[in-house]
Amino acid sequence: SASKAGVKGLVDAGVKELPRMFHAPPHFLNGRPPAPAGDPEFSVPVIDLAGARDDHDPEERKRIVQKISDASAKWGFFQIVNHGVPTSTQNKIKAGTHRFFNQDAEAKKEYFRAEPMSKVVYTSNYGLYTAPVAYWSDVILFNMAPEPPEPEQIPACIRENVQEFSEEISKVGGLMFELLSEALGLASNHLKEEMGCAEGMGLACNYYPHCPQPELALGITHHTDIGFITVLSQDHVGGLQVVHRGHWVDVPPVPEALVVNIGDMLQLISNDKFKSVEHRVIVNNVEPRVSTVCSFGNGFMLKSRMYGPIKELLSEENPPIYREISIEEFFFKSYKKGFDGNSYLPQLK
Ligand code: SIN
Ligand code: FE2
Repeated sequence: SASKAGVKGLVDAGVKELPRMFHAPPHFLNGRPPAPAGDPEFSVPVIDLAGARDDHDPEERKRIVQKISDASAKWGFFQIVNHGVPTSTQNKIKAGTHRFFNQDAEAKKEYFRAEPMSKVVYTSNYGLYTAPVAYWSDVILFNMAPEPPEPEQIPACIRENVQEFSEEISKVGGLMFELLSEALGLASNHLKEEMGCAEGMGLACNYYPHCPQPELALGITHHTDIGFITVLSQDHVGGLQVVHRGHWVDVPPVPEALVVNIGDMLQLISNDKFKSVEHRVIVNNVEPRVSTVCSFGNGFMLKSRMYGPIKELLSEENPPIYREISIEEFFFKSYKKGFDGNSYLPQLK
């Protein structure tokens, strides 16, 4: 039945009026004004990594690190180009995502899981019981690190795409952690090797069906990401928005670019130098949108390890803002609080 096939199932069944549960509260939809059109102050930074990937020119690398530092502090969001992930790799996982969601309900049902800690989870509305409104989206997620799923646990129609994409995106993640370490004034390997930021990795393939009444619904309501960083690949459709200076700003699709954003855990360990910023996805009535969202840092990693503001960053002028917390406690508290748009950060009083 349609209900077993997620939000896409509703659209396939020909729903013309948005069911009540998808009506977002007006302050969710219109609580912040859109950014003034054409104002360059409200254009998400695009950073070219070409000069950071070949190491001929250390001065060029420093300029790139400075741009990443500014964007991470002022926006918490930026796009990267010349990052090394082939466009074909990005296109292939999008095609795989369409293939998976275009299957009938029976084929998808096999991957449905209610527990978010499974290695492979197909679900709809994962915010259903925790966010104040149902999301206009379906998702299949893969917890790839520290322990990847067995290949046969991944649906065959997307298996190779998931493996190829995670391999490529892990390299970019590694490069980003180097550049972000340098942006914090630390040794290049600090975030990856000392802090283990890349040890947990989850890949979400999102599917946002076209929506009969897009002005009433949200694909994902405003939230901050929990982990260290998120690296995402969006298609040509658009819909991702980020809060900047109190306004909703579109993150425009840039062919070949990846979007990077700072998560709560990196805000915590950077002692607020880098900001984890609210974002959401709006929907449209023209065509479905797919995105591939890779989060570094997840509930599977280093369960017993404690994370607090990085010692090397602290001084009399920069005292710790947060207490130490284990990843396990952090994820538990973040989920328990519900997807209300606020991050759970363990503030020292
Ligand atoms: C998310 O923030 O989790 C989804 C972003 C996207 O689909 O672009
Ligand atoms: Fe997000």
